Amino acid sequence: MLFADHDPEAEEELVVVRDLMRAEWHVPAGLRPVAPRLQVLAHLDGHITAPLMVHLTKQSLLNPATESIPFAVDCANPRALKTACEILAQQGWVIVDDGVARVTPLGAVAAAYARQYWHPVSYLPTLRNVENLLFGDPSTVVAALGEDAHLDRELDIVFSGDVFTATCSEPFLDVCLPLFDSSDLDRQPALVIDSGCGDGTLLHTLHTAIRERTARGTRLHERPLLMVGVEPSPVARRITDERLAGVGIPHLVIDGDITDPYSLGRALAEHGLDATDALHVSKSVIHDRNFRAGRPDTVPHTGRSPRMLRFFAAPDGQAVSPDAMARDLAAHFRSWRHLARRHGLVVIEAHAVDVTRAASVNGSTLASDLDATHGYSHQYPVEPAVFAWAAEVAGFHSLRHHELGVVNSGHTMLTIDHFTTREER
Ligand SMILES: C[S@@+](CC[C@H](N)C(=O)[O-])C[C@H]1O[C@@H](n2cnc3c(N)ncnc32)[C@H](O)[C@@H]1O
Repeated sequence: MLFADHDPEAEEELVVVRDLMRAEWHVPAGLRPVAPRLQVLAHLDGHITAPLMVHLTKQSLLNPATESIPFAVDCANPRALKTACEILAQQGWVIVDDGVARVTPLGAVAAAYARQYWHPVSYLPTLRNVENLLFGDPSTVVAALGEDAHLDRELDIVFSGDVFTATCSEPFLDVCLPLFDSSDLDRQPALVIDSGCGDGTLLHTLHTAIRERTARGTRLHERPLLMVGVEPSPVARRITDERLAGVGIPHLVIDGDITDPYSLGRALAEHGLDATDALHVSKSVIHDRNFRAGRPDTVPHTGRSPRMLRFFAAPDGQAVSPDAMARDLAAHFRSWRHLARRHGLVVIEAHAVDVTRAASVNGSTLASDLDATHGYSHQYPVEPAVFAWAAEVAGFHSLRHHELGVVNSGHTMLTIDHFTTREER
């Protein structure tokens, strides 16, 4: 770690990029128009500031309450930390003084948003391979990176957990808590199953809220509630297990795949659990599913899917048309009907945005980051209208719907739905 160890090579590289930033990357000062020049400089600076902010926040050297970073004391590598502070000073985020960097008002805003950098930086293993992904053989990149090594999974899931807490938890609880507030406990779910549970934040938050805020919470001794995390990532399984065990929440964490609900049902049956008696939830996982051309749960061809101006890339680099992707999503929903018929699916999902709309809100939206990181790593976010269409043709109806992100980014970034099957209503 740069600030924990003495690493002369990394320190030297930091000095080089600091000087390049100071020299505005040698982009001629008189270039017109001004705006694109500034945008290019911001992109180049971003390559340096983003990993630096991740480093500083992970090591608790910078957080929203930080007033100053003392680089001369309590640090194994004061020279590197001073150079890092000089890089932040280039952004106007700190003023470097004698042995200390004082955070400016602009820096305080940057510190408040610093964890947003965790998402793009978690994808560095993929981003380092972009040239090969675009112009080489994508399958060799996928093979070389190995299973789930296209990103720093721990950084990614801690970031996702943060997003859940900051943005989704209240509307999500607004949808879920009424399901645990009726007096007829037998009609309530026995389990909550979170497919792709990440760091377990959602399961932890939901169990705590049910216990503290619902009728079920006062009668958990009569009808316990088991929180089940399903995860293909061993890192995520370990973190979720430790987290829920640490706060005494009854739980089970198993390996599994959101693309294969049939195997999930069988795996839970081996634990003596009935997966149809669960409230199934997921956040930001459906777009991370495996694309399965010609999967069994096909949907009837009831007209075309809504227009979507984007193609997708399968792991071998083959293009997947918008219509094929929309139909795969519908088939995915359809495959979940048997498990969701009693209590439904509560789905929080991240969405793509139409490129024209994204261009009109450039600077406010995270669309280009999300399109790039997801596009290069065979993930398939679609626009909200396509998502709603896929659920509908698969036989689901949304009982409750929330849209998040419009105010800050100018378009819907996340939706929350409680999908139920038609036969349930
Ligand atoms: C963006 S993270 C979201 C984590 C968590 N749901 C949250 O929002 O905080 C995506 C998660 O889905 C998991 N995942 C990826 N592919 C999956 C699959 N096919 N089935 C189930 N989970 C999957 C990843 O391991 C990762 O933990």
